[in-house]
Amino acid sequence: MTSEQHYATVARLSHSLSDDTKPRYRRLKDGLTSAIERGELRGGAMLPSSRVLADHLDVSRNTVNRAYRELAVEGFIEPIERVGYVVNEGLGDGAAGGPDRDGSSIAPRVRWDERLGALADGDDERTRPAGWRSYPYPFVVGPGPEGFPIGSWTRAMRTALREEHRGTSLHNLDDQDDPLLVEQIRRIILPGRGIQAAPDQILVTLGTQHGLHLVVEALIGAGSTVGIEDPGYPDARRIFLKQEAKLVPLPVDALGVIAPEGLSGLDMVFVTPGRQFPTNVTMTIGRRRKLLAQAARDGALIVEDDYDSEYCYSRRPPPALKALDTAGRVVYVGSFSKFLAPGLRLGFVVADPVLIDHLRRLRHHMLRHPPGIIQRTTALMMEVGDYGRVIRRHRRVLRSKWQAITEAVEDLFPWPVPSTDGGMSLWVAGPEDLDAASLAEQALDDGVVIEPGRSCFLGPDRPAHYFQMGFAAIDREAIRPGIEHLARFL
Ligand SMILES: Cc1ncc(COP(=O)(O)O)c(C=O)c1O
Repeated sequence: MTSEQHYATVARLSHSLSDDTKPRYRRLKDGLTSAIERGELRGGAMLPSSRVLADHLDVSRNTVNRAYRELAVEGFIEPIERVGYVVNEGLGDGAAGGPDRDGSSIAPRVRWDERLGALADGDDERTRPAGWRSYPYPFVVGPGPEGFPIGSWTRAMRTALREEHRGTSLHNLDDQDDPLLVEQIRRIILPGRGIQAAPDQILVTLGTQHGLHLVVEALIGAGSTVGIEDPGYPDARRIFLKQEAKLVPLPVDALGVIAPEGLSGLDMVFVTPGRQFPTNVTMTIGRRRKLLAQAARDGALIVEDDYDSEYCYSRRPPPALKALDTAGRVVYVGSFSKFLAPGLRLGFVVADPVLIDHLRRLRHHMLRHPPGIIQRTTALMMEVGDYGRVIRRHRRVLRSKWQAITEAVEDLFPWPVPSTDGGMSLWVAGPEDLDAASLAEQALDDGVVIEPGRSCFLGPDRPAHYFQMGFAAIDREAIRPGIEHLARFL
């Protein structure tokens, strides 16, 4: 790159930093990505050191380092030990829209951003850095893949490929599911939650996200009103907003969601009673009965997301809302993400057969059916009892991490953190003047990953002083040292 080009690139980067709708490192990263795509930074080009670029742009070195790290994870640039970063060969040749081979014409690039609408709530912000696994203290929300039962999965998959299972594993099932998996869900998972269901009340999905998407597509449209927990699960909120639903925030306290006295204005209520996301509160049985009675009186439907009820450590979890529902008003969405692995993308919906049949047809247009081989392998694993063993092992490991983090936070944090009876994360409220996003950036420099909680809230004035700390993905031994590091910033 000539020095003129260099200054033009730096000027453009500097300009891109002035848009303050995204964190700085993201803006810088996007600016660098565009420079590579435009061919300003070509394959093999050395990037300035983080100190030099930080000086040029008047940002912190952390910002530059974080942008570089993410670009490296995404394959745009490559680290060279003790030298710095270079643009990957094969990139930055302008192939996406630079001059033709003979240099005679410029092919206009498709402006995809103009063709695509903004995402519904304009908030698709990732709360964890790319490459979080490489940090020493990854307090991220969600399971790590470490406990995945590779041996029993491999055995079950080999069996799933035998002649007698191939019809399900490898053939097109049209809009049907694997009957063996439906049977296992019916006999092993649902009774643990107090739910009885016939096979025609169950639909297999690609995880909760997919199940919820189908339910919302079937039942919610522009003008529908939906009550959602506030704070709540951002991915659910985004699905409702995509359907142009009007959202009504429902506050949450230590007993679970507080539904308004009348639900008559609401078409649907979305709740996570087994483990409220993100506060981890388990809704009391009294609140559950009250919510069901109010919904029955006012004609609202309830969607119950029961994503991690198996991880209750200090008592038996109360029965699911669906188990208490005598009117068929509750649509239950479940997931294998927390119990086996999120990468399997497997979940299920339990509801009235008429609704299930409708969802089945919607699903068919979208993707026909979740992969037969994944369904049959999971079913075979469950049939020989390995699923139960995995859950018990996970619960043991998670309980021990939960004790470690609860104790460490109690000993080392300057403010109290409400105790939970289970789950895989803590929800921490700092003092009101705490900016959890800045704290997360600072802590990252010390190798500690935490997730700011702002995106869990609804509305324009979202509190910024909450954050989540997952404890499933981090080693037990790293929990206390990680909290010690974090506590220095508090
Ligand atoms: C509230 C909530 N529901 C559901 C899920 C699981 O989603 P999926 O089954 O799509 O992986 C999660 C995972 O993070 C969650 O936090």
